[in-house]
Amino acid sequence: MEQRPSGAKIQAIRGTRDILPPDSSRWLWLEEKCRGVLTRFGYSEIRTPIFEYTELFNKGTGETTEIVQKQMYTFVDRGGRSVTLRPEGTPSVARALIEHGLLRGSKVMKLYYFGPMFRHDRPQAGRYRQFDQLGAELIGAPGPEGDAESVHLHVSLLRALGLRQFAVKVNSVGCPECRPAYSGIIREALKDRVGQLCEDCVERLQKNPLRILDCKVEGCRRIAASVPRISGSLCSDCSRHFEKLKTLLESIGIEFEEDPGLVRGLDYYTRAAFEIHHGRLGAQSALGGGGRYDNLIALYGGVPTPAVGFAAGLDRILLAVEEEGVTIPIDTGVDAYVVAVGEATRDKCFSIAAWLREDLKVELDLGRRSLQSQMKTAGSAGARFAIIVGEDEMASGVLTVKDMTTGQQEKVPEVDVSGYLKRMLGK
Ligand code: HAM
Repeated sequence: MEQRPSGAKIQAIRGTRDILPPDSSRWLWLEEKCRGVLTRFGYSEIRTPIFEYTELFNKGTGETTEIVQKQMYTFVDRGGRSVTLRPEGTPSVARALIEHGLLRGSKVMKLYYFGPMFRHDRPQAGRYRQFDQLGAELIGAPGPEGDAESVHLHVSLLRALGLRQFAVKVNSVGCPECRPAYSGIIREALKDRVGQLCEDCVERLQKNPLRILDCKVEGCRRIAASVPRISGSLCSDCSRHFEKLKTLLESIGIEFEEDPGLVRGLDYYTRAAFEIHHGRLGAQSALGGGGRYDNLIALYGGVPTPAVGFAAGLDRILLAVEEEGVTIPIDTGVDAYVVAVGEATRDKCFSIAAWLREDLKVELDLGRRSLQSQMKTAGSAGARFAIIVGEDEMASGVLTVKDMTTGQQEKVPEVDVSGYLKRMLGK
């Protein structure tokens, strides 16, 4: 077990990060841009808890997946129940829809979420133990138009952020009709190589052979590459669905690559699966991924409801934004800085700043500094105007307003200052 050295300064847990200003404004920009696109596609936000009963993920994400077997933050709470910090959002959305009785007939629902996910993996560039996802789930759409719209939404989000150097990969992972035959093909192909598989894959070979194709152990990866691809085993419905998805993507100009090795690391997928990779992110290149999961809701005991969706990794998207040199417009400027000339005017400055803040971005000195350093701070904060309040100004009710770009000073009656600033700032 990893122990924190006693007496050492307490630091953030490995694989977690603090997001400090001004970096935090990049996150706000990202969220705002994405919310705009999601709204245009008709999505509404859902917020679910960040921890759930462990069985939700065991059952949905899948007992034989890397996530469930190796990466979950699971603990027993004070009530003696096993709970888990969510490693992904899809199971929670399915649970919430069932719990709130929202699945009715053929109603189509579009839900999105932003938030932190937790996976105990080896941290490296682009891979964290706490990371943020944007997920988008389309519920109640059985046809390939749903899959195509989901891919289109993901691509549109990336485009809206100014990204260009990404590639869409698609595949079909079959359905309960055709997958058993494919599982048989994997078992047959690997029957003489069981001794070369890792312990988990030996178990997967019995329980869920498809998962071997997703194992991270180098030896298993080499062996997995020799297994026949699933594309040859798809039933006619799955093939038709996949062909139509590709035609629809072509019809709206989305370029993609068919990747028969793409199986995704979660158990609930049926038919279409997709991932979007960035060309300049190194080993952790997946910006997002998803696919159809027509059986998950029924697996949890809900009315059988088709669904398709994806999640995008926001930490990686911001790395890609940096790699591509996208300029993020960050407004750090201040409209006005209220400057106190002498101690006696500080209370007056406090009240002037308070009412100006109803419409404007206003700062004042809370550090009890000299006039000179207040003027310096006003400059370095990028204030357009300094409002100078000395005893004369207090007595006359006429303030001195200095334009910090031209250096020009104007006398403005206190009651008119807000209007004057708004006029000058074009607000
Ligand atoms: P996922 O492929 O496991 O899918 O994760 C989606 C994205 O989250 C990845 O492509 C990656 O960008 C990001 N991500 C995953 N793990 C990490 C990590 N350790 N550090 C940083 N970023 C990471 C899902 O989670 C499914 N729930 C997607 C889905 C929604 N399928 C259907 N609906």
